[in-house]
Amino acid sequence: MIGAEEISKEKDLKESLQKIFFELWDLYLIFWTLHWTSSGLNFYSDHLMAERIYKKFPNEIDSVAEYMVALFGVSSVDIATTSRHVFESLREVSNENLLHVALEREVEFIDLLEDCIHLANSMKNVAGLSNLLSGLAQSHQGENLYLLQQRASSKKKLRVLKFSANEGCGTGSAKECESILCRSLGFVVA
Ligand SMILES: [Fe+2]
Repeated sequence: MIGAEEISKEKDLKESLQKIFFELWDLYLIFWTLHWTSSGLNFYSDHLMAERIYKKFPNEIDSVAEYMVALFGVSSVDIATTSRHVFESLREVSNENLLHVALEREVEFIDLLEDCIHLANSMKNVAGLSNLLSGLAQSHQGENLYLLQQRASSKKKLRVLKFSANEGCGTGSAKECESILCRSLGFVVA
């Protein structure tokens, strides 16, 4: 006989896995759109980074969805509910700051995974789920977040240098200084 505590944990697990499933769809669209819309000095590296990440999502979504169906039935992957969620979650997101959004959402996603792993570890009859979620956490923390953080820190360095250039470097115009600084960092200057 299943106790009240176990029923409550099952309900929490269903909600937690659904949040992970929805967030995977959001992140998939964010990274794929970042792939298409990358521009500026880091266009090509951003384009490739986003491609490397977005291509992992179909398998991740598939693994989580199949687990949800096995545990909670087909209603847990209802197509209308999923599309409503994605619409609501991304309706305010702009193409202009997708890199920043991706970084923030990856951090939140890793928190969601950690909560769900903790819950799964405290439950019976969910064999393999912790392994699946730990694999996701490893990929998102060890690769996606790492790449985004490195990219964000190079953007910050460029902003500092641009600021220095605008202040003037003692020789030539601010535009010329900015161009010299960018070249010295290996950025392509048009
Ligand atoms: Fe492409």
